[in-house]
Parts: sequence; C-alpha cells; structure tokens
Amino acid sequence: MKILQINASARSAGANSTRLADSITARLTAQNPAAVVDLRDLASDPHPVLDEPALGALFTPAEQRTPEQAARVALDDALIAQVQAADAIVLGVPMYNFGVPVQLKTWIDAIARAGVTFRYTANGPEGLLKGKKVYVALARGGLYRDTPADSQTPYLKNVLAFLGMTDVEFIFAEGLAMGAESADKAFAEAEARIDEIFA
Ligand SMILES: Cc1cc2nc3c(=O)[nH]c(=O)nc-3n(C[C@H](O)[C@H](O)[C@H](O)COP(=O)(O)O)c2cc1C
Repeated sequence: MKILQINASARSAGANSTRLADSITARLTAQNPAAVVDLRDLASDPHPVLDEPALGALFTPAEQRTPEQAARVALDDALIAQVQAADAIVLGVPMYNFGVPVQLKTWIDAIARAGVTFRYTANGPEGLLKGKKVYVALARGGLYRDTPADSQTPYLKNVLAFLGMTDVEFIFAEGLAMGAESADKAFAEAEARIDEIFA
C-alpha cells in the first residue's frame, strides 16, 4: 500500500492541518504496517505556480520543448506519478480567505492534466485517478461547516471527483481561532472522527 500525504499549510512547523493529516497517516500505517508513505510538505518544498512559461511548456509538444520547458513539465510529471501510484491520499488543508492555500492550488494545477488524469468523452469528462481513498483534514479559524460560506469543501469535492477521486472523507477542525477551549474541542472532535473512520 502506498500513502501520499500532502501538507498544504504555508507553515511547515506547528500547522494544525498537518497535525491532523499526520494523525490520519499514523492510523493508516498502523493498519497497514508495510505501507510506504510519500510525504510532500508544500511549505518547505513548494511546487511552482502555473504561470505563462509553465503553460507554454505544457502546450509545447514534448519533442519541441526547450530544456527549461522539459524541466518544468517534469516537475508536474513527478507529482502525477506520485498520485497515480498512491492507494490513499491524505491532504492537510487550512482555510485561507475562504479558499485553499495557493500551495494546494499549485498541486491541483500540476496533477490535473487532460488525457492523463482526466479525459473528455462523448458522455462528458472522466476522471482517471480511480480507486483511491482520500482523506482531507481541514483546519479553520472560524465555523463554516455545512454553511453556504464553506466554499472550500465543495471545491475540493468537485475537483477531486473530476479527477476520479470520489471516495473522500472530510475531517474538520473548526473554531481554532475562537479561544483555547474551542480549539481543544475542535481537535477532540476531529480525533473522534478519525477514531470512527478507522474503527
Ligand atoms: C492568511 C490566513 C487566512 C485565513 N483565512 C481564514 C478564513 O477565511 N476562514 C477561517 O475560518 N480561518 C482562516 N484562517 C485561520 C486558519 O484557517 C487557521 O489558523 C488554521 O489553523 C490554519 O491552518 P494551519 O495551522 O494548518 O496553517 C486564516 C489564517 C491565515 C494565516
């Protein structure tokens, strides 16, 4: 079994989302002692943004790419290979300004590639990253779960499903900026949910 953990917080130490993601990965490895864990911390090891040179590289046929363009595409290829190889994916995701951190967006932009991780068919788009279990550990300062202000969860659900990943568990730690008591309760609830999932 291969586990891929992506830490999307902008901080590589002390991140609440990473704490929960670590907890989920620990449970997965406890259940599967032979599992191999691939960890990408996007704070200490960021992926480049999808900018004009990157788009130019992606849309240039492979045999015509400059060495710089080939190197840029290879960075995305490596992330695609990692996600293709994973049986379980653990995403640690803070809420930043109602959305996902730019660090996670760079990862999503890298792994969404037409003809490789999704394709268009006569019946519409088809995700090609099938058969994976995804855990999303969400850390938030406020309380947004199940409200129209939670634009983050529907976005993640949609984009993961678009790529074929439909088996997704969301684990919430909310109210982390609402005092120590609220933060303790949020972690206790998130850990209880993790216990439930792995019971
Ligand atoms: C730049 C920034 C933007 C934030 N925006 C939101 C927000 O829109 N909604 C919210 O509930 N919390 C927001 N927060 C609080 C974080 O979600 C919370 O501190 C969370 O623990 C951050 O995750 P991390 O500890 O994994 O980095 C924000 C925090 C930062 C630093």
